[in-house]
Amino acid sequence: AAEQAAAEHWAGPQDGLAAALAGCTRCPLHCAATQAVPGEGPQDAALMLVGEQPGDREDLTGRPFVGPAGQLLDTVAAEAGVAREAVYLTNAVKHFKFRPQGRRRLHQRPDAGEVQRCQWWLDAEVALVRPRLIVAMGATAALALTGSGGSLMARRGMVESGRQGVPVLLTLHPAHILRTPDPKAQASLRGLLRGDLAAARERA
Ligand code: URA
Repeated sequence: AAEQAAAEHWAGPQDGLAAALAGCTRCPLHCAATQAVPGEGPQDAALMLVGEQPGDREDLTGRPFVGPAGQLLDTVAAEAGVAREAVYLTNAVKHFKFRPQGRRRLHQRPDAGEVQRCQWWLDAEVALVRPRLIVAMGATAALALTGSGGSLMARRGMVESGRQGVPVLLTLHPAHILRTPDPKAQASLRGLLRGDLAAARERA
């Protein structure tokens, strides 16, 4: 259903943006990645969710948040009353950055320069969708959207002013929750993400 909904929303200026993004060489990340991964969702979405960068699955399929972090996000968002089909979902950086290890590709965090080079695309998406609220998931999205790299845990749950005057609510990245080994800590972080997404839904 998510795939069909995504396909239905792909008519209009978003198509042009995705086509242009496919040829992006603004930073060297395009050399090793399979493809650039554009955002997806309704062009008139009130809420935009922004992650860090595509992961392995996203790089292969060309769609954001379809791997393990995406599955967790879908579940927690649904618990918070936020349907994936209703939001515009994208990433701060559009190409997968990784380090090969044998046959595996290990995620590497994009640096500030890569985030800055990719800002052009994020700005274009924000200008196209004009959401009422953006949720920045994790430190990379927070940096891209607010310009501040300050501690995410100290800022999470807060709304800061973002690019193009759109307010930005800061929250955890779902992959951070997946990487937390202690089940109790994981449950509590999941509760924080759920609460932040519920607050975002009410505000948008
Ligand atoms: N993590 C992200 O930040 N974005 C994705 O699309 C997938 C995993």
